[in-house]
Amino acid sequence: MTEPLFSDNALQELQRNLDRHDHGASSHWRQMHQDYRYRDGRFEGLNGFGDPEPAGAWPRRLVHRWLQRPFRRIGRGLGDFRTLDGIGARIAAIQERAYNLDILRQVLTVAWLSERLGPDFARLRTILVIGDGFGTLTSLLRSACPAARIVMVNLTKTLLVDWLYVARLDPGIRMCLAPDAEALDRALADAGVSVIAIQADDAGLLAKVEVDLAINIASMQEMGPETVGLYFDTLRARRDGRQSLFYCCNREEKRLPDGTVSRFSDYPWRANDTLLVDELCPWHQEYYIVHPPSYRPYEGPHRHRLVRLVTDAPSSSPYGDIHGGTVDRGNYAGSR
Ligand SMILES: C[S@@+](CC[C@H](N)C(=O)[O-])C[C@H]1O[C@@H](n2cnc3c(N)ncnc32)[C@H](O)[C@@H]1O
Repeated sequence: MTEPLFSDNALQELQRNLDRHDHGASSHWRQMHQDYRYRDGRFEGLNGFGDPEPAGAWPRRLVHRWLQRPFRRIGRGLGDFRTLDGIGARIAAIQERAYNLDILRQVLTVAWLSERLGPDFARLRTILVIGDGFGTLTSLLRSACPAARIVMVNLTKTLLVDWLYVARLDPGIRMCLAPDAEALDRALADAGVSVIAIQADDAGLLAKVEVDLAINIASMQEMGPETVGLYFDTLRARRDGRQSLFYCCNREEKRLPDGTVSRFSDYPWRANDTLLVDELCPWHQEYYIVHPPSYRPYEGPHRHRLVRLVTDAPSSSPYGDIHGGTVDRGNYAGSR
């Protein structure tokens, strides 16, 4: 295969691969996808990556809004929050779903990144989303950073969901699936392509992409260490001498069904990565439920870290770094 696949061809390829074993699927994800079905344009058994609940009647929407107050209070301290909040609401309306915490969390993340990176945020050219869900973050970034190209990588079953939700937002979008290296080269060379989808089994291809910013939210915590290592390796394999920024927000520790323990501090950070922020994520410690209206802590603390990763490739150009930022906290415990 040598061409990137667009619209129906991409959908057919993803559907053909739905029953293929996703090697990057941890025991957690094999369990989550057990009841997954896609037939005649309808999904069944979508588990583990958020809830695309319908918006519902106004009392339900009001309860969401009321329960979101503590999260919106955090947003008030972030310059772009109001604008992004409006974009989040528009995405929910177009995709016909509730503006719930799954969307609001991503809105807060993007507002926070915009605040931290300042003018560099608008200069990002390639953003990698590892493990989206219902295309929420990709949809948001499409609107918030129209000049950037988004590459999204996910397990095939979830990638099909991401694809359909992103396409629903913008039916005219030029989005393609890159199933091999040659197709990816062509997709990257085509300035008109704004979203490139890659199946997790093909994640090694990402070494070809010069990623300015990679984002992973609540996803590495459910991967095995080899898979996490592969993503770090591809981000470090830049040929242009620049360093990729990586925003990583995950549970500090999570035990997967097969007994594997995923630990944030064990991800392959390096002592010479430049740590910009490292703290518990303020908006990712508690969630709410609508019935009965209440807050619950997640099963463990979530840490977020913004880091500039050192690259393994020899610099082919003078070292250039578009990414500014100041170190917030120096308690860098993750090197191994
Ligand atoms: C708990 S969901 C989080 C979804 C979303 N990021 C959020 O914050 O709500 C984890 C996501 O990671 C994806 N995922 C699991 N294993 C993956 C892998 N090996 N490569 C890429 N994505 C993966 C899942 O399909 C799912 O989309």
